[in-house]
Amino acid sequence: MTSDALGNDQIATTLIYPYLNHAVRMLESGYATATDIDNGMRFGCGYPQGPLAVIDQIGPAAVRDVLAARYAESGDHLHQPADLLEKVAAEGGSFTGGSGEGSAAPEFKRAISSVGVVGTGTMASGIVQVFAQSGYDVVVVGRGQDKLDGVIGYITKNLDRAISRGKSTEDEKSDVLGRISGSTERESLAGVDIVVEAIAEDLAIKTELYKDLDRICKPGAILATTTSSMPITQLGAVTNRPGDVIGMHFFNPAPVMKLVEVVTTESTEADVNETVLALCANVGKVAVSCSDRSGFIVNCLLFPYLNDAVKLLESGVEMDTINAAIKEQASLPMGPFELLDVVGNDVSLAIQQELFAEFKEPGFAPAATLEKKVADGHLGRKTKIGFHDYSA
Ligand code: CAA
Repeated sequence: MTSDALGNDQIATTLIYPYLNHAVRMLESGYATATDIDNGMRFGCGYPQGPLAVIDQIGPAAVRDVLAARYAESGDHLHQPADLLEKVAAEGGSFTGGSGEGSAAPEFKRAISSVGVVGTGTMASGIVQVFAQSGYDVVVVGRGQDKLDGVIGYITKNLDRAISRGKSTEDEKSDVLGRISGSTERESLAGVDIVVEAIAEDLAIKTELYKDLDRICKPGAILATTTSSMPITQLGAVTNRPGDVIGMHFFNPAPVMKLVEVVTTESTEADVNETVLALCANVGKVAVSCSDRSGFIVNCLLFPYLNDAVKLLESGVEMDTINAAIKEQASLPMGPFELLDVVGNDVSLAIQQELFAEFKEPGFAPAATLEKKVADGHLGRKTKIGFHDYSA
């Protein structure tokens, strides 16, 4: 059968089963718990179920058989059933529904009443909204008044939409906006208890900022980065307080997606980690824990799947057919090309390149079409053209 003739169910199978296998490999490696892997995909990407729960629902043996057949055809290591999948299938066991990994609710080990956010892009704007809506005073630092106005504009638009849907009021809106103060001076961060950095994904730009934050912020302030592709350890290393540096990886759109990946380096202090976990809970987010490695939990599982979708497109399957198959058959909230356009093809390519460099899986090589979209400046919604055209 040519790829043109793939049915919707086969498209979903082609793209989803390697992702399921990848989730088992992550569990097997001990990088994250089963609960955090499943919560990551549910709350970070709006999936109805996490991958391990999906395997349990289909049946581990059935998933293993589909992958084994695929591996026999492709010879691609990514399709070879994970050892743990073989084991669970052979034993008739399951990945979820165990006794649980419940632990005590995290507590604030450092007091947090004011938050600084550095950056004025989509992620920064959403994060400012999250904290202000939860009652925190927020200082947002940007490079110009126009950019700070953009943050307020973004939040105002979201709150107006919520009001029009009867989910908020004009009073709440003015309370939220009243908690936000903008500044073009980093020195305004001197008094905050935690800084959440959401600036350009460029190591030189970020390290310059971290040196400055180290100089400006009060002792004991937590320095959190929202990076999705930079080594957090290197950011900590340019400060005199690497123990206070941690990752807080939010998902797009930040006011809606409930996940935060809390990423610790070898230097991150335990009280910083626990405080950030408590802060996430306090702002209504679900936190998952992981260490400083490319892609963390979610991007490591998500982007190879998105990259595979681009490769399937290159093999001749129509973009709309793939988007529809994923939504209808796998019940994911967005098709892969719709999501690539939301995230941005530049961000997606950077993440995929990082994953390829770290894991050295030939199957992780960025799809040529993704590289071309970036080279052509077709970055997605933000440039009004990506895989889809938004200019109308
Ligand atoms: N900002 C704030 N709120 C927004 C919003 C935005 N940009 N977009 C939608 N919303 C709100 C709406 O107001 C609505 O709120 P209520 O339910 O309170 O009324 C709610 O979200 C649902 O919106 P819609 O009904 O308009 O649209 P939808 O049902 O199609 O949902 C979606 C939109 C929540 C974004 C959904 O499509 C989804 O879950 N998509 C998956 C997104 C995803 O996978 N994100 C992760 C990307 S990877 C990443 O971010 C990590 C990285 O490092 C790159």
